[in-house]
Amino acid sequence: MNKLHCKNRELINDLFSEARDSWDVDILYKNLTKIKQIGAVRKVEFTAIEKTILRGLLCGYSPQQIAAKIYWTSGSLSVELTKGLYRYIETLTERDSNTLKNWRDIAKWLEEAGYKKLKSHQDLSEKPDIYSFYGRENELQQLEQWIVEQQYRLVLLSGLTGIGKTTIAAKLVQKINPKFDYVIWRNIGQYFSFSTLINSLLEVFIGDRETDLPVTVNQKIFLLMKYLFAYRCLVILDGLEVIFEVDNSASFHQENYINYSQFFRIIAEQHHQSCLVVTSQEEPIDFLLLHNNKCKSLTIGSLGEASSGILRQEGLPNCVSWSKIIKRYCGNPLILKMICAIIKEIFGGNVTEFLEQNTELDVILPTAFTEKLERQFKRLSTSEKNIMFSLAMAQKPLTFNQIQQEVKPTVHFSELTQALIFLKKRSLIEVNSLLNKSVFTLQPLVMKYVFVEYQKKDK
Ligand SMILES: Nc1ncnc2c1ncn2[C@@H]1O[C@H](COP(=O)(O)OP(=O)(O)OP(=O)(O)O)[C@@H](O)[C@H]1O
Ligand SMILES: [Mg+2]
Repeated sequence: MNKLHCKNRELINDLFSEARDSWDVDILYKNLTKIKQIGAVRKVEFTAIEKTILRGLLCGYSPQQIAAKIYWTSGSLSVELTKGLYRYIETLTERDSNTLKNWRDIAKWLEEAGYKKLKSHQDLSEKPDIYSFYGRENELQQLEQWIVEQQYRLVLLSGLTGIGKTTIAAKLVQKINPKFDYVIWRNIGQYFSFSTLINSLLEVFIGDRETDLPVTVNQKIFLLMKYLFAYRCLVILDGLEVIFEVDNSASFHQENYINYSQFFRIIAEQHHQSCLVVTSQEEPIDFLLLHNNKCKSLTIGSLGEASSGILRQEGLPNCVSWSKIIKRYCGNPLILKMICAIIKEIFGGNVTEFLEQNTELDVILPTAFTEKLERQFKRLSTSEKNIMFSLAMAQKPLTFNQIQQEVKPTVHFSELTQALIFLKKRSLIEVNSLLNKSVFTLQPLVMKYVFVEYQKKDK
């Protein structure tokens, strides 16, 4: 008998549980309990059966249908509603007594009172699917803390091409998207200009409503900020580096760059409840000025030992040399994938044989990778290129003074300082400390590329 009673209670608790998807039922229960308590001499609860009836009504079931589900007669449910739930909801929604007569009004009145959850809107059509994901636990935890707990407004993920910025951002979206009202992913490279990109963001909020979009960039940003203020939104802008590309229409890119830069400043400084995540091979220099308590950047480095997941996935036979390969290719997932293909094609999957041929100074750089680096290298100023050549020729870390002596023609202090900042922001050089002095060296994969470039220059 007791068992049956428990089973019935479980069934009642599970009934109409889909109401939770659209309604803040726990807050409703709490507030309705307080109302039921008014004027009661002893402590009263909002009972399990009352909760079930409420959930049923919120899901759109009529009292007759609910009565059938809970094995009550329609008459007794009607008495229960008229004496209890209808009256509590009048009080909760601040209506006059005995004005709630129709069960359909319950959902309507509670929606008007703000108990209905905002439907999550997602536009992730431009987000790449991730089929496998290894490591990066610390980075994901850090990002979640910044974005969800500390509510940073602007977060930049930077790092060398292929290191996994887009992949981390996609994983992050998967993990934290339920915390947001709107989640939107945009690939900057797919938009002709800043203005068209902002239009596409505004369209998500405006939807089918026939509203004209504002004309000027400032008006567009102003309208977008209103939405970012009203809703908690997560917006990902992937691949910012395209706006730094140099081509024949340099002035167009310059204008684009100013717009993005102004937009980031507004996002970081203006009050709102949303977060913009930007991925880029290069950290825009203006970000240095925005580093306040609402703006952060994270440099994505080697995937480390977790890269073995990629080698396994690519079908390389397990061997002790795996960690050597990972180290030599700086835990760069894109390069490791490409190297796996080479090892399989040329060396029949034999990692040891590949490593015997492939010395530390003679790393293979797959074409797709060098093409990406080439685009970045082209954008460097002459003195930045000269610094890179000097570091490549030295083949070891150099101090600030040593670089100044090596670079020809000579670069002055301020020019060298600025160039080193730019190179670091582009993930092309690494800065370490040796005997209490800063030493600079090329990122190992970049070293090989620059070396080859230098030889071409000499010819
Ligand atoms: N943590 C990871 N686990 C598994 N695969 C990964 C991981 N990170 C990156 N990859 C794979 O490595 C490749 C490059 O990653 P991704 O495109 O994210 O790099 P990126 O830093 O965004 O490069 P780019 O600057 O060129 O846009 C992809 O094929 C991706 O699937
Ligand atoms: Mg990317």
